[in-house]
Amino acid sequence: MSVRVLELRNVHKSIKGKKIIKGIDLELFSGEVLGFLGPNGSGKTTTLRMIVGLIRLTEGEILIGGHSIGKEFVKAMENVGCIIENPEMYDYLSGWENLKLLASMEKGITKERMKEVVSLVGMVKRIDDKVYTYSLGMKQRLGIAQAIMRRPKLLILDEPANGLDPAGISEFRKLIRKLAHQESMAVLVSSHILAEIEMMCDRVAIIKQGEVVRVTTVENIVKDQGILWKVRDIQLGKKILEEEFQAAVTIKEDQTLLAFIGEEQVPGINKRFMEADVGLIYASRNQKSLEDLFLALTEGDEIV
Ligand SMILES: Nc1ncnc2c1ncn2[C@@H]1O[C@H](COP(=O)(O)OP(=O)(O)OP(=O)(O)O)[C@@H](O)[C@H]1O
Ligand SMILES: [Mg+2]
Repeated sequence: MSVRVLELRNVHKSIKGKKIIKGIDLELFSGEVLGFLGPNGSGKTTTLRMIVGLIRLTEGEILIGGHSIGKEFVKAMENVGCIIENPEMYDYLSGWENLKLLASMEKGITKERMKEVVSLVGMVKRIDDKVYTYSLGMKQRLGIAQAIMRRPKLLILDEPANGLDPAGISEFRKLIRKLAHQESMAVLVSSHILAEIEMMCDRVAIIKQGEVVRVTTVENIVKDQGILWKVRDIQLGKKILEEEFQAAVTIKEDQTLLAFIGEEQVPGINKRFMEADVGLIYASRNQKSLEDLFLALTEGDEIV
């Protein structure tokens, strides 16, 4: 059963008289990964810093594991692991020594738990090497190992995929999902890249100029974006989509068919295209409209 781990109630933040966060409400449950998506300067880091207690709220309330950070700060923070900005680690020590140092400062972290997190983040082979020999991705893994060692209910990651190559992002995504599911953790990850959020998260909260403008499942966002087909006989393709699959179809400028339809229907449609000799060249997701959607939601905001 999923439990509510994090709750933001009407959270505001002003810095030097400037309203930066303007009344955010948000909920996060155990076992889910929520993406916090917004353009540069929209207030992601500011919100995450409030959640982990690095800065105070101007107004509103944040509850972690049912404890208000204003009233029961220590109890609330017992439930949180985070990486905001860079993870703290000593370069001249090995990964394992870094973990040991941290474990010595906390109660009840066993050697077994340390081994477990090392294996969970996929660092078994390199954990005894000095941190200065690590790549960025390895440092990030060690950072996560540090953050989850004491089994937090909530893990907060600010732009964790920054600087990772596509293979690194894919590995990272698997790790995040594993943490949410195996350790029943609630994970909040921020990013300004929609595709990243789409790959990593179950739900997404879109933030624009300090306000959450939409919270939805990633599934819905993906549905919103549509599927594209490039075919030889475009009119026949359109007819089949409309008449046999009841899809709303448009022909795009580049002579591809765009339909807003459930992904699960794609194999059936492709099969029909083959049978009807439509001349199927390819089918893909409409990535452009993903960008369009994001821009529409944020009204193409420039950095503010
Ligand atoms: N200490 C501060 N003093 C003044 N303004 C600040 C301060 N911290 C943040 N801001 C402003 O608050 C707004 C939100 O910043 P924040 O860092 O939360 O954005 P972000 O969504 O994390 O952006 P990015 O994607 O670039 O990391 C920005 O306009 C920023 O300039
Ligand atoms: Mg930021």
